[in-house]
Amino acid sequence: MADRDELKRAAAERAVEFVESGMVLGLGTGSTAAFFVEALAARVGQGLSVIAIPTSERTAAQAHRLGIPLASFAEHRQIDLAIDGADEVQRISLDLIKGRGGALLREKIVAAASRRFIVIVDDDKLVDRLGTTGPLPVEVAQFGWQATADALERLDCRPELRRTGAGQSFLTDGGNFILDCRFGSIENPVETERRINAIVGVVENGLFVGRSSAVIVASEDGVEILTSGGTVSR
Ligand code: 5RP
Repeated sequence: MADRDELKRAAAERAVEFVESGMVLGLGTGSTAAFFVEALAARVGQGLSVIAIPTSERTAAQAHRLGIPLASFAEHRQIDLAIDGADEVQRISLDLIKGRGGALLREKIVAAASRRFIVIVDDDKLVDRLGTTGPLPVEVAQFGWQATADALERLDCRPELRRTGAGQSFLTDGGNFILDCRFGSIENPVETERRINAIVGVVENGLFVGRSSAVIVASEDGVEILTSGGTVSR
């Protein structure tokens, strides 16, 4: 059995090779992104000069603790390179489901503002169809969330309010709720994304369609870089 953390670390360490001095970076959220932050901090310690916009308070705290200079959209509207993990990566298209870690809104804002968006995963995340290993997270306003959940259900999914281990409603960094929506296999991610975001009360959803520049995948056989259209390099 492969050690998933070792694979995540291997993908993260490969991603650091794409970072150049002077870049404005987007820092993702989650366990794989945390390995990237760690690896980046080591390079910063050796003199690499970058500035980073984090996608969550958790990542901001880690980056700050490790000495990575942080910025916000107040100073930089354009990000050179964002690096983030994912919950599912669809082979060939490289479309994603993100947000099972709860940071999808900021992650999507950062991805949308980035010239390049590189995704880092272990091979467990690769799927033939999105939606097959778990729910699609949808961030919604607290007010009227029950009505928003009913509207989502009419799209043929089962929405469930995310809760913390202690049973409280999970709150995003933006103070919103998350409805984890079980769609099963998502045949048309573009249309699903459009229909979800057309519902009043939805803030954003975890489908990232056509956003990945490349996906770095670590498996027991080594690290591969996938680009859309199915090109692979090592
Ligand atoms: C957080 C995310 C994460 O990137 C995703 O959940 C993957 O996390 P991990 O690297 O821990 O498997 O989208 O909102």
